[in-house]
Amino acid sequence: MALINENYLKLQAGYLFPEIGRRVREFAAANPDKNIIRMGIGDVTQPLVPAVIKAFHEGVEELANAATFKGYGPEQGYDFLRDAIALNDYQNRGVDISADDIFVSDGSKCDTGNIQEIFGAGNKIAICDPVYPVYADTTVMSGKTGTMQSNGYFDGIIYMPCNEANGFIPELPTERPDLIFLCYPNNPTGTVASKEELKKWVDYARTNKCIILYDAAYESYITDDSIPHSIFEIEGAKEVALEFRSFSKTAGFTGTRCAFTVIPKELKAYDSEGNAHPVKPLWNRRHTTKFNGVSYPVQKAAAAIYSEEGKKQVKEVVNYYLENARIMLESLKKTGFTVFGGVNAPYVWVKTPNSMKSWDFFDKLLNEANVVGTPGSGFGPSGEGYFRFSAFADRANVLDAMERIKNLK
Ligand code: MLT
Repeated sequence: MALINENYLKLQAGYLFPEIGRRVREFAAANPDKNIIRMGIGDVTQPLVPAVIKAFHEGVEELANAATFKGYGPEQGYDFLRDAIALNDYQNRGVDISADDIFVSDGSKCDTGNIQEIFGAGNKIAICDPVYPVYADTTVMSGKTGTMQSNGYFDGIIYMPCNEANGFIPELPTERPDLIFLCYPNNPTGTVASKEELKKWVDYARTNKCIILYDAAYESYITDDSIPHSIFEIEGAKEVALEFRSFSKTAGFTGTRCAFTVIPKELKAYDSEGNAHPVKPLWNRRHTTKFNGVSYPVQKAAAAIYSEEGKKQVKEVVNYYLENARIMLESLKKTGFTVFGGVNAPYVWVKTPNSMKSWDFFDKLLNEANVVGTPGSGFGPSGEGYFRFSAFADRANVLDAMERIKNLK
C-alpha cells in the first residue's frame, strides 16, 4: 500500500498565489469585457534589459557550436557567475564572502523550501506573521509541525507577530527556536531592518545556537544607504546565518529562473549528541544529488547584470518599480488608506478600510474596481485586515488602478 506524506493533509488550502489566480480566472471568465489590473503576485512586468538579452543570445549561440557546446555544468553554478556574485554583491560592499560559498539555483522559492531537508525534523522553526507563505507551508510539509489550530497557527511553529504596534518588526521570541526565517526588505509588509536590528538577531542566534535563514530577495530595492543589504554585513553572522538571493526581482528573472544561496563555511549545526557539523557540505550533498544546475545561457544572462551597462540597466528597472511604489503610496494615502512599506521595497502594505476582512476587500476590489491585490490574511493570521499591492506593474496600470481605487464606494 502506497502511503502519502500525511503532513500535506495538514495544509488547509491551496498555495496562496494559485488560489488568487483561480479566483481571478473565474471572475475574468464571467466578465470577459472587464480590463483586470493585476497587482497581486509579485511578478515582474518589464522586459529583461538589453545587456542580459545580449548575453542570453550569446549563451544560446555557444550551445549551437561543437567547440563551445556545454552539457552538464557544475551543480553549484559556473565560476564566472559565482565570482561575479561574490565580488559585486559582497566583497565590493566590504563583506568577505568567497565564491565557493555560493550555490546558484533556479529560485529562492525552491531554496527556502528545500533547505528544510538538511535540518532535522526535531527543529523548532520561528517565522514572522505575516510572512511569505513558503516558509510556513514547507515547514509543515517537512513534518516539523502539528496541525493547524483554530487561530490559524500551526502547532509547533513559533510565530512572531508583526503588526502596527511593533512597526512590523518582530520581537525576539520568548520560546527558543532552532531555525529562524527572516526576510528583509520584507515580503509582504515592505519594512526593512536596520543594522542594529539585525545585530540583535545575530547575537540572539549566537547565544542560543540557532540558525537564521535570511531571505534577501528584495535587497536591490533598498534606497536608504544605512540599511544592510546582507545579513553578512553584521559581525559574526557567518557562523549563524545563511542567505537567499534572487535575480527574479533584481533583474526580472521570474520566468527565466536564477537565484543563489550563500552558505558560509563557518556555519555549523549540531547532531543529536551535540557535535558541531558544517552546514555547507550537507547543502552541497543535496544540491549535487538532486539538482543539475541552472542552464548555461541563463547563467550567462545573470552574470551580465554585473557588467557596467548591466548594472545601470537593471537599476533603471528597479527605479521604475520603486517609482510605481511611490505613486501608489501617495495616492492610497490621499484616498484615505493607512499605508506601510513601499519605500525600500516593491510592496505596499495597506490597512483595509473599516477593518474589512482581507478576502472581503479582495472581492470588493476585484468586483468593483477590477484590480487584483493579495489579501494580507493569506500571509498569516496577523495579516488579517491588511492587503498587499505589488509595484511590479506597468506605470499606466498603476495610475489606472489608483484612480479606480480612489473612486471605490
Ligand atoms: C510574492 O508575490 O510574494 C512573490 O512573487 C512570490 C515569490 O516570489 O515566489
